[in-house]
Order: sequence, then C-alpha cells, then structure tokens
Amino acid sequence: MSIAAALAEVTARLPPGVTLIAVSKTQPVEAIREAYAAGQRHFGENYVQEWRPKAEALADLPGLVWHFIGGLQTNKARFLAGRVAWVHTVDRIELARELSRRCVAAGAGLRVLLEVNLGGEAQKGGCAFSAAPALAEAVRALPALELVGLTCIPPPDQEPRPHFRALRALRDRLGLAELSMGMSADWPAAVEEGATFVRLGTAIFGARPVRAAGA
Ligand SMILES: Cc1ncc(COP(=O)(O)O)c(C=O)c1O
Repeated sequence: MSIAAALAEVTARLPPGVTLIAVSKTQPVEAIREAYAAGQRHFGENYVQEWRPKAEALADLPGLVWHFIGGLQTNKARFLAGRVAWVHTVDRIELARELSRRCVAAGAGLRVLLEVNLGGEAQKGGCAFSAAPALAEAVRALPALELVGLTCIPPPDQEPRPHFRALRALRDRLGLAELSMGMSADWPAAVEEGATFVRLGTAIFGARPVRAAGA
C-alpha cells in the first residue's frame, strides 16, 4: 500500500479530535515528503541525532509539526528548544527543567506530555504511575513548558486496554487534555479509550528500514 493510501485509510477511521502522528523514525526524508504531499502534517521522531538533519532537509515544508516521542537525554534538550512543538516523553524533573531553561533562552514555548511507565518495565522510560502527580505539579511550575497531557507505551506482551484506561483516569485526575497512546497494533483500542494522539509508524510507512549505527 502507498503512504497516501495508508494515511487515507487510517484518517477515515479517526474520530474528530484525534490527531495522527506519523512516526517517521528511520524513514528517509523522501517518505516524509510523500506523507506531507498527501496532507499529513504531524510527524514523530525518536532520536535527536537522526531527526536534526531530517528537520533541516525538510525546513521548506510549511506547517510541518514535529513531535519528539523518544527517550530523551537531558543533554539533548537544547536541540529541541524552539524546533519541536511537542515533547511526549518528559519523565523526570531534571529533563523538564533543562527543556524549560533552553526554551526560555530560545524565546520559545513547548507543549509537553509526561510519559508514564504503566507496566513498571525497568528497561523502559517513563515515570512511575505513583510519581506522576508530583512530577506534573513540578512541571507546571516551570516557565516555558505547558503541561498538556500524558503518554504511554503499554508492555508489548499485555492486553493494552487496561493500560489505556489507567492512563486516561490519571489524565482526568490531573486535569489534563491530551492522551498520547496507540501505535500500529493497538490504535483502535486506544481511540476507543480516549486517545487524542495516536502514533503510527509501520501502519503508515510499512516496515521500518534498519537504523544506521549511531543514528
Ligand atoms: C514512542 C513510539 N510511538 C510510536 C511508535 C510507532 O510504532 P508502530 O510502528 O508500531 O506504529 C514507535 C515506534 O518505535 C515509538 O517508539
């Protein structure tokens, strides 16, 4: 299936209020241009080093919106300030402080979501469920960041729906608007459970090319 056909198929099934983020990690700029030509505007990237040259190569595309959705080292925050509109993976106050500091310096704002590690998976990023309220309060106090929602990636070996429900309940408790949840394999369930962003890679672009070492 072409990228345009895949986009059309997914967007036809999305209710109003749900934004599709095309996850373009490891995809070449040509694939992103193809999606953009078909009308797609929101793109998600996971690796700062990979994303930077791609963003430069695509700087001619008006209205293209970058979402950073990968694990983020604090020392890479400076590359995102003023250049991405959304960061979905804030999971510790040190990272939030550095993003805020860099955004203040750049004269930019940034919408952020807290990534919550619902499955308690040690190898994954995300703050603990129980730590999210305190982190939300601390992030809300920072000058350049606008805390807008929560993100999750449920454990791959578990039924995702209970995790989506738990994230939604926490989002409601914290008085936030956005829920970034749902990938190619589980997005219809995520939408039923209230997702406002779904992040789809393989469903849009097909299988991912192998990532170059160090990218
Ligand atoms: C945070 C995140 N969201 C979404 C995706 C998209 O996954 P899929 O290709 O299964 O749609 C990825 C891919 O690795 C990801 O890392």
